[in-house]
Amino acid sequence: MSDITLNTLEKMKHDGDKIAALTAYDYSFASLLDRAGIDIVLIGDSLGMVMQGHESTLPVSLEEMIYHSLCVTRGARRALRVGDLPFMSYQGSRELALESAGRMMKEGGVQVVKLEGGEVMADTVRFLVERGVPVCGHLGLVPQSVHQLGGYRVQGKDKSGANQIRNDALALQQAGARLLVLEAVPADLAKTISVELEIPTIGIGAGPDCDGQVLVLQDMLGIYPKPSPKFSRNFMAGADSVEAAIKAYIQAVKSGEFPSAEHCF
Ligand code: KIV
Repeated sequence: MSDITLNTLEKMKHDGDKIAALTAYDYSFASLLDRAGIDIVLIGDSLGMVMQGHESTLPVSLEEMIYHSLCVTRGARRALRVGDLPFMSYQGSRELALESAGRMMKEGGVQVVKLEGGEVMADTVRFLVERGVPVCGHLGLVPQSVHQLGGYRVQGKDKSGANQIRNDALALQQAGARLLVLEAVPADLAKTISVELEIPTIGIGAGPDCDGQVLVLQDMLGIYPKPSPKFSRNFMAGADSVEAAIKAYIQAVKSGEFPSAEHCF
């Protein structure tokens, strides 16, 4: 059992304490994040891009997610471990989702599984939650749908798009999701959703009013060779070690200094 649980995160939201999250994919970085005091370690399927060099997250397999989750589990003992269900490991049916989620928890050691999609996934989320699988939703720019979205674009900019994301968020909460990642949505929409929901929201390119923030580790360390998204910040600039950069990120999230206007839509 980690020190940080879903109950801890819900209390943090209630108390107005910001939640700091980062991705990790291996033992050494997971240990470092844990020591630095991160609240959530996300084993994201972004590993397909930053670890494997793919153009998108789509090629990542369930076996690969389990492998990286287990590496992280050995290092992150204090933080809550959230692991992504990869593309096509859950969309096919709720039974498939349950089997994949079960493997992520039993073999990978994650405590929460994250999946992408809103109302359309609510039935699956309910099915998992009723069977003891804690779920984190993911709305806005959902990278597994990059081809359907026509690229990595900000979502919810017009009224109908924004309303859909609000309805999706409520549907996920009603289905029993305990956390919600909001990616690349206008800051005012993320604020509205964060106020409306009882569960914590974790933003990435979603403005300062989410209950917490997450970034991809390689982006915030400035080591991903391709251009980083506008919403990220290189915390190595001005830091004299990786540990100092990670601590600076946690501090910037907790104090509300990150994200600033330049990182928002
Ligand atoms: O895969 C990932 O790292 C994610 C974050 C971008 C939220 O889902």
